[in-house]
Amino acid sequence: MAPDGLTARLGSIELRTPLIAASGTVGSVWEWADVADLAPYGAAVAKSVAPVEWKGRPAPRLAPAGPGMLNGVGIQNPGIEAWSEMMAPRIRGLDVQVWGSAVGETPDDFALVAKGLVSAGVPVVEVNLSCPNLEDGTMFSLDADRSRHVIAAVASSVGVPVGAKLSPNAEDIVGVARACLDGGAGFLTLTNTALGFGIDLSTRRPLLSGGVGGYSGPGLKALSLRCVYEVARALPGTAIVGCGGVTTGADVVEYLLAGASAVALGTVLLAEPRAGRRIERELIKELRRQRVGSISELVGAVTPW
Ligand SMILES: Cc1cc2nc3c(=O)[nH]c(=O)nc-3n(C[C@H](O)[C@H](O)[C@H](O)COP(=O)(O)O)c2cc1C
Repeated sequence: MAPDGLTARLGSIELRTPLIAASGTVGSVWEWADVADLAPYGAAVAKSVAPVEWKGRPAPRLAPAGPGMLNGVGIQNPGIEAWSEMMAPRIRGLDVQVWGSAVGETPDDFALVAKGLVSAGVPVVEVNLSCPNLEDGTMFSLDADRSRHVIAAVASSVGVPVGAKLSPNAEDIVGVARACLDGGAGFLTLTNTALGFGIDLSTRRPLLSGGVGGYSGPGLKALSLRCVYEVARALPGTAIVGCGGVTTGADVVEYLLAGASAVALGTVLLAEPRAGRRIERELIKELRRQRVGSISELVGAVTPW
């Protein structure tokens, strides 16, 4: 059982620890549960699901890039009907909250998937607004109005907390965050991957078949942390999941101080599927070093100059 001081509150959601396994890095959770220890996590988010099957992009779709990695998976998923049949029975018995993640091309798509996820039993829906939108090739989360429409469509369709997952590439992250809260988001996940690119010098081809992809891992931390800090300052009291480049307990504390109430682990789990236990231990040590008894004392407690 997690120590009492680790209990986290994310809006209306209570989590036994502030650690969350990030969408797309733990499959649909049950596969990863075979190799990981679920106890250090407050929640785990399943891979994003669309209304119908998406086959994803051709290989290569993952590549190392400096201290992080590039991915251009293209949200390969079986579609909500098949997902519900295959995944729902498998995630039901797991000893962790499994959240669903919805993706689509229109607000109605997102709402349809969210309804399917909730029927399948997920207690929380994260809305992936930070994937390429196939209608015109841009992400919903770069535009405040379009983000609000999607979140409003989802929030009015389901009776569970809805989170908006945003992009560090948004020009006005506070404006997009405010629009999502207006639309009915109960929390924000800050952030998804940043747009990135790399070239293989031996072939002179892009590292990914799709060219531009999502950059994640340690190099992303400063970018996502900036989003958390600015949104928390501009919109005090907002429930935020910090996400991007976390590899240690100290990274988790940094996100909490910037204003996150919970913190997601992504790329670190690909190389180290059991990283949650280590990071939880480091977090407990860091709480002692910071002389605090609970993580809630750290949320937004960055000291101004
Ligand atoms: C291979 C891979 C697949 C991902 N798939 C999804 C996805 O389906 N839905 C989503 O919301 N985020 C997805 N993400 C983004 C992660 O959830 C996370 O937001 C991002 O990687 C930044 O965190 P990190 O630096 O800790 O990895 C994916 C990331 C990676 C590396």
